[in-house]
Amino acid sequence: MRETLEKLEQRREAARQGGGQRRVEAQHAKGKLTARERIELLLDENSFEEFDMFVEHRSSEFGMEAQKIPGDGVVTGWGTVNGRKIFVFAKDFTVFGGSLSEAHSEKVRKVQDMALRVRAPIVGLYDSGGARIQEGVASLAGYAEIFKRNVVASGVIPQISLIMGPCAGGDVYSPALTDFIFMVRDTSYMYVTGPDVVKTVTNEIVSHEELGGASVHTTKSSISDGAWDNDVEALLQTRRLIDFLPANNREGPPEWPCADPVDRLDMSLDTLVPDNPNTPYDIKELISKVVDEGDFFEMFEKHAANIVTGFGRFNGRTAGIVANQPMVLAGVLDSDASRKAARFVRFCDAFEIPVVTFVDVPGFLPGVAQEYGGLIKHGAKLLFAYSQCTVPLVTVIARKAFGGAYDVMASKHIGADVNYAWPTAQIAVMGAKGAVEIIFRADIKDAAKIAGRTAEYEQRFLSPFAAAERGYVDEVIMPHSTRRRVARALAMLRDKRVERPELKHDNLPL
Ligand code: HXC
Repeated sequence: MRETLEKLEQRREAARQGGGQRRVEAQHAKGKLTARERIELLLDENSFEEFDMFVEHRSSEFGMEAQKIPGDGVVTGWGTVNGRKIFVFAKDFTVFGGSLSEAHSEKVRKVQDMALRVRAPIVGLYDSGGARIQEGVASLAGYAEIFKRNVVASGVIPQISLIMGPCAGGDVYSPALTDFIFMVRDTSYMYVTGPDVVKTVTNEIVSHEELGGASVHTTKSSISDGAWDNDVEALLQTRRLIDFLPANNREGPPEWPCADPVDRLDMSLDTLVPDNPNTPYDIKELISKVVDEGDFFEMFEKHAANIVTGFGRFNGRTAGIVANQPMVLAGVLDSDASRKAARFVRFCDAFEIPVVTFVDVPGFLPGVAQEYGGLIKHGAKLLFAYSQCTVPLVTVIARKAFGGAYDVMASKHIGADVNYAWPTAQIAVMGAKGAVEIIFRADIKDAAKIAGRTAEYEQRFLSPFAAAERGYVDEVIMPHSTRRRVARALAMLRDKRVERPELKHDNLPL
């Protein structure tokens, strides 16, 4: 008996070696951790239950029958993050470059299926050369099986992808189907095909970083929601993100103990908005002053920074936060900002996370480039996303809410439940100058008349009261009381139920 147990331990130990000492050292030399080291950091101590440690590939092409490594390039199983169950798979680059064989795919599918069955989040740690070249179409089939499962699980359980090494082909399409993608700066890359193929096909010479590094995907392509400096930080921040997320689409946001009084007033907010309406201020100051303990997890920080998206908590419960950022392009809505916020709002709605919107928006960005780039369709995505929400929506207009952007940014008319405005709010079709030049064009050369008309317009429309008189805002509130007001509104809305007509699925303007 003892011998049998020892044999098991030996086999386990062999599997834990992955691709062997030399390859593990090479992995470390590149500044990367191994698959098992990563899982250890992601999960609570001693909580990892591994599956399929002894699975090997079944290929006999190109001498592969002589090269079998237990685990076959991916470590899979489940464990806990701060006591909450999650499933995980981590590509092991030390084994055939983490490439995907038929057996490797079966391991990933097993945890995907189980995560869906028990309705728990799944995290994929990617570090992989893509399809196992020696397995040909069996590998392609293996990817497609994974893609299908990504899609079936979309909107049911949170799916998070961490890109922690070079990832090509199937190992970028699967993450692209998940909810969040994070990268590690300088060691992770994402591309459909790498620099060598690019050179052959298009004659372009690019580095891995230029083609698919974190700097590209967090800014230009907007493929990645964020990036961290190293593996350890990426894994710890993923734990932090998981703490904000529900386990599935039925559970509702998790509740954590909250030491921050829900009725905490912040008098500094009364002077946050500058007297000059064209002077910017940092909307993140407002966000961090109203959420629990100033803890705000920002998504897509580097892309379309004219809108801010992320998670915070009110009284221990997660809320999605969307806010125009006056510091960047005056907080205008353009195509990128609209798409960014639309995707975020849809995630929140799918997972029953209430959305709090802070508004200071001068309108949609005019111009040929924006119109040619499809601003109408991209703006419509955000309008669609908010209009479709059945989760509680609370809106606070801090300053400008002009034109179509007023409607889009979670106005009462498209379904927001509680709409507040600060006394500094200006809710109108447009700013004073543009308005006066259009409706009093005949007086344009008479400076005194124009000044009078401008003052009249400002007096009548550049305030929250025209909207408040119609009930479009429920109350004009003191800025210092924003946390209390929002938290109470969310508590009141907790049991909100909205019935929608039956449908197969909607037709979001893609
Ligand atoms: C089998 C692979 C492999 C692969 C790497 N390896 N990629 N084995 N299939 N796809 C093996 C190498 O032979 C090597 O084995 C080890 O992994 C490490 O690879 P290196 O090349 O030495 O590492 P590095 O220099 O760091 O380069 C990493 C890399 C490169 C950039 C990922 O290996 C690479 O370009 N690989 C191919 C990428 C690719 O084009 N894949 C196919 C994508 S198409 P030893 O034994 O020496 O350690 C695809 C189709 C699915 O995925 C599409 C679905 C839509």
